[in-house]
Amino acid sequence: MAHVASLSQLQTPPWASVDGELKPYTDVNLHISAEALTRALSVFEGVKGYWDPEESTFRLRSPAAHHERLKRSAQLFHIPFDVSYEEFVRRHTQLAAELLVPEKDLWLRPTLHVTEGHWGEGTAATMVITAFTQTKSETAPMKLGVSTWRRGTDVDLPTRVKGSANYVVARLARIEVRKRGYDDAVLLNREGRVAEATGACVVMVTDEGVVVPPSSEGALDSLTVRILEQLCLREGVGFTRRPMDRTELLAAREVGIAGTISELTLVDEVDGFAFPTDGVLRDLRSSYMRVMRGEDHLPGVDMVPVLTAQDIAPDELATSGRTASLREAVRPATRPRRRPRRAPRASGRGRTRGGSRAGSSRCTPRRR
Ligand SMILES: Cc1ncc(COP(=O)(O)O)c(C=O)c1O
Repeated sequence: MAHVASLSQLQTPPWASVDGELKPYTDVNLHISAEALTRALSVFEGVKGYWDPEESTFRLRSPAAHHERLKRSAQLFHIPFDVSYEEFVRRHTQLAAELLVPEKDLWLRPTLHVTEGHWGEGTAATMVITAFTQTKSETAPMKLGVSTWRRGTDVDLPTRVKGSANYVVARLARIEVRKRGYDDAVLLNREGRVAEATGACVVMVTDEGVVVPPSSEGALDSLTVRILEQLCLREGVGFTRRPMDRTELLAAREVGIAGTISELTLVDEVDGFAFPTDGVLRDLRSSYMRVMRGEDHLPGVDMVPVLTAQDIAPDELATSGRTASLREAVRPATRPRRRPRRAPRASGRGRTRGGSRAGSSRCTPRRR
């Protein structure tokens, strides 16, 4: 099975957001001498947005927590970042308004990368947001292989920082296990305990209920796991963060991976050990998806509405198949049509596109 995170990257959307301005995706460049490349100084987030056809609303999941984590990653790597929460949401909304396809979800990737400066002096950074559509269909169970590559430690490559450099080892691990026929890898930490998967956290079910490794074991402080914790609390399922031995994982009742892009994906095999996919994790996955789709509300989970049907400018209906299908999708009786391909449009403001629509009639971002 192709990894969900890989599929998004194969798309070439028409637009990206560069420091708050829309630019054609193919025109986004980086100089070879930028520290983003020479010293891998780039931190990022993966933000998911869900279209709710019942309420004709597009919501971003946990944008405040993503903003906070990006800010913390930037601080820890001494990268300047002064984008407010409101502006962070405005930029995501602006891009989503261009790229949203109603029958799909959207995965947005804000990347803050160092464009100027040298060894921490004169550092300047740019925030680019790219976005890719994702199918709403349920992800099939995955097979995981334990990699020989190890997740770094806090004193060599801090794993609390969501930095691109951490994904060098993740990529090696994924390449390694794919050759053995697996979809994704489990990375162990230096002590040989489970750290995480390449782009998601590892979750197992034991007698205790749901168990996940804490950040101190090398797992990213996952926003999805925080939501699963809330769901477990509400649904009376045990939830524990504690170190996880490799053999505990192999002997677990159930296994899954959790992350913004993977949501809660069930795992039916780890290194030849089989797991059922019809238990606690399947039920948790259904509950999680109901919250994401706006069918359920979970206190403490931030689903921030940013676009509604009213945000579709009437003038665009005439020129854009995408917005026309979006308008149709919000009429309950009408099935959405597929969006025809369209070339990137240059606006009257040179090669960039201004943010007037996103800044005007959109839902106002709220913190909860
Ligand atoms: C390495 C890694 N671990 C875990 C996660 C899951 O984190 P979150 O749930 O915040 O997306 C991600 C995804 O962003 C990741 O890249």
